[in-house]
Amino acid sequence: MKDKFGRTINYLRISVTDRCNLRCIYCMPEEGIIKKDHDDVLRNEDYIKIIKIAAELGIKKIRFTGGEPLVRKGIESLIYETSKIEGIDDIALTTNGTRLYEMADTLKKAGLKRVNISLDTLKKDKFKMITRIGNIDDVFRAIEKSIEVGFNPIKINTVVIKGINDDEIMDFVKLSDEYPLHIRFIEIMPIGEGAKFKDGYISSQEIIAGIENLTPVETGPNSTAMVFKRKGAKGSLGFIAPMTCKFCSSCNRIRLTATGTIKPCLHSKEEMDLKAFLEDKYKLKLILEHAILNKPLEHNLEKELSKSQKMMFQIGG
Ligand code: GTP
Ligand code: 5AD
Ligand code: SF4
Repeated sequence: MKDKFGRTINYLRISVTDRCNLRCIYCMPEEGIIKKDHDDVLRNEDYIKIIKIAAELGIKKIRFTGGEPLVRKGIESLIYETSKIEGIDDIALTTNGTRLYEMADTLKKAGLKRVNISLDTLKKDKFKMITRIGNIDDVFRAIEKSIEVGFNPIKINTVVIKGINDDEIMDFVKLSDEYPLHIRFIEIMPIGEGAKFKDGYISSQEIIAGIENLTPVETGPNSTAMVFKRKGAKGSLGFIAPMTCKFCSSCNRIRLTATGTIKPCLHSKEEMDLKAFLEDKYKLKLILEHAILNKPLEHNLEKELSKSQKMMFQIGG
C-alpha cells in the first residue's frame, strides 16, 4: 500500500519487548526500566494476527527488534509462525548478539534470514564500560556462529561517539575487509539517554573523510545507510546518518511497539492503538491503513527534541 506521499510501505518493524539484558550508556538508564505487566504486552498470537493483516496490505518484510528481542520467551516460535504467513518473504532481527550463539540454529530453522548485530567496540573492557554488564566474547561467538549458519547479510551496527569509540573506526574497517560483515557506523541520535552524548556526536561525513579506498555501492532506495566497498574487502561499510542525511523521502517502514501501538515513523509522537481492537480484524485493518496513509513526510528531530519522546529501547531502534 502507498502512503499519501506515494511511498510504498512494505516493511514492518516489530518491537517484541522493551526489556534488554544490557544497559548501553546511550540507550538504557543504568537502573534499567520498569517492567511492563504481561497483560500490557502483545502475545505471539496477537502479533501473528496483526502481521497477517499487514501482509494483506502489502507488508513483505518483517524485522523483529526490542529492547533485546532475544530476551523474549517464544521469539523462535513467533519467527516460525511469521515465516508461514503468505506474503512475508523476508524476516530479519536486530539484536545485541549476547544470546544469539545459543539460539542461532533454531532461529535459522524457524525462518530467520538476516541479522543486524549491535557492537560498538572490539575491546573487552570498553564493551563492559559501554554496555555496563555485557561480555564481548558472547557477541564475538555469535558473529562467528551467524557466519556459520548462513545468515546473510550480517550487519554490524556501531554507534560512533567521540572520545568513546572513534579511535576504533579503522579496526572496524579492517574487520569488514577480512570478514563478510557489513559494518554500519551510526550517528548518535540525541534521544533518551543518547541526549547525554551530544558532545560526542560525529557526522558520517567526518568518518567517511577519514577512510581511504571507498567505492560507493548502489543500494535500494529504502536503505538507511550509504554503503561503500573497499578493494578486496569481504564485507562493506555503511553510514547511517539519521541526523544529517534524512532518508525519510524514501522511507518504506512503519513500526509496531510491544504494547500494541503503531508508530508510522521512528519519531512520531502520534501512535495508534491496535491492542484494544485485537478481536476486531476489520478495525485492525482500518487502523493500519490509516497509519500507513498518514505516515508523516519526515521526522523533525532537530526541531522537536522534546522530553515526551520515547526512548530507543521503547521504539525498537
Ligand atoms: P536493514 O533492514 O538491514 O536496512 O536495517 P535497518 O538499518 O533498517 O535497521 P536496524 O535495526 O539495524 O537499525 C539501524 C539504525 O538505523 C538505527 O539505529 C537507527 O538509527 C536507524 N533507523 C532505523 N530505522 C529508522 C527510521 O525509520 N528512521 C530513522 N531516522 N532512523 C532509522
Ligand atoms: N542513537 C543512534 N543509535 C542508537 N541505538 C540505540 N540508541 C541509539 C541512539 N541514541 C542503536 C543501537 C542498535 C540500533 C537498533 O539502534 O545501537 O544498533
Ligand atoms: Fe540493549 Fe540495544 Fe539499548 Fe544496548 S542499545 S541497551 S543492547 S537495546
